[in-house]
Amino acid sequence: MTPETITADASGTWKLGDLPVHRIGLGAMRLTGSAAFHLGTPSDRARSIAVLRRAVELGVNHIDTAAFYFSATRSANELINSALAPYADDLVIATKVGPFRDYSGEWGTSARPEQLRGHVEENLRQLGRDHLDVVYLRRMRQDSIAEHFGALAELREAGLIRHLGVSDVEPAHLAEALEIAPVVCVQNRYALDRPDAVGDELLRLCAAHGIAFVPFYAVAGEAGPHAAADAHDDAVRDIARAHGVSPAQIRIAWTLHQGPHVLAIAGTGNPDHLAENVAAGALRLSADELTRLDALHTGTS
Ligand SMILES: NC(=O)c1ccc[n+]([C@@H]2O[C@H](COP(=O)([O-])OP(=O)(O)OC[C@H]3O[C@@H](n4cnc5c(N)ncnc54)[C@H](OP(=O)(O)O)[C@@H]3O)[C@@H](O)[C@H]2O)c1
Repeated sequence: MTPETITADASGTWKLGDLPVHRIGLGAMRLTGSAAFHLGTPSDRARSIAVLRRAVELGVNHIDTAAFYFSATRSANELINSALAPYADDLVIATKVGPFRDYSGEWGTSARPEQLRGHVEENLRQLGRDHLDVVYLRRMRQDSIAEHFGALAELREAGLIRHLGVSDVEPAHLAEALEIAPVVCVQNRYALDRPDAVGDELLRLCAAHGIAFVPFYAVAGEAGPHAAADAHDDAVRDIARAHGVSPAQIRIAWTLHQGPHVLAIAGTGNPDHLAENVAAGALRLSADELTRLDALHTGTS
């Protein structure tokens, strides 16, 4: 099968609460420019809209976004709204609140609990919806997230939000949130070539609680918000060559092999990369290949 004929269905399905999603989704942060935020050149609007529409055609029904994903002239939420509204019934849009950027893109003080309603309403306005499917509290280094998460739980009770998640958390924060309201997903930085004991523990905890684990920077790795590096470990390159796929696809496949509750949200503004990323959901890695890749993650290779 060529990448173009493989759809997100091949990656399997997971439920975010009562909302089924394919395990290959799309991160919207890269639709706004060549690097995240104001770091790169703003994207071509028609190209980003085409990527979103192609993603849905390829079966992607989980898009990850935020009102603070914008470059000088592009907004991720505006692009999603323009490309996809009226939204398909099965499309799940997950957004995040907590961080704040002013109109020039500078990072400001993160939200106080009572300001989170405004953050939720900004997402509703930009996406053109009357409720949000999934909202993550993106922790901003608070020791306790109880007050912030409690504020979001009230907005969920009020019907503005269907399901809640938490992002950039440690196990203690997840435990705090679970005392307050159901958590359907945890979104943390987690990648093949980054040893990460906290991430490994969260991955395990999420599996035990039936919570989705949603890694970010799974392709970009150490490059983070900058453009992904071309350099890859030998193991990743060798295994990619053996499957006739790209290193990025192996990174996504390894991510999905970490458990049925792991969802991929690789970000791209490139239509060819989108097709590759969707096709990565059909890759099956052998036990030997996984052992070799796991050694990169544990730092024992
Ligand atoms: N919760 C948080 O704090 C947080 C933080 C960061 C991101 N996120 C979310 O997580 C999503 C994923 O993170 P991300 O987009 O920053 O990073 P990523 O998915 O790890 O990697 C994106 C980078 O990889 C490139 N890329 C993607 N597919 C590729 C392919 N098949 N071949 C070669 N290069 C490829 C992209 O460039 P091209 O555009 O050229 O393909 C971009 O430079 C974001 O979109 C966002 O929704 C959340």
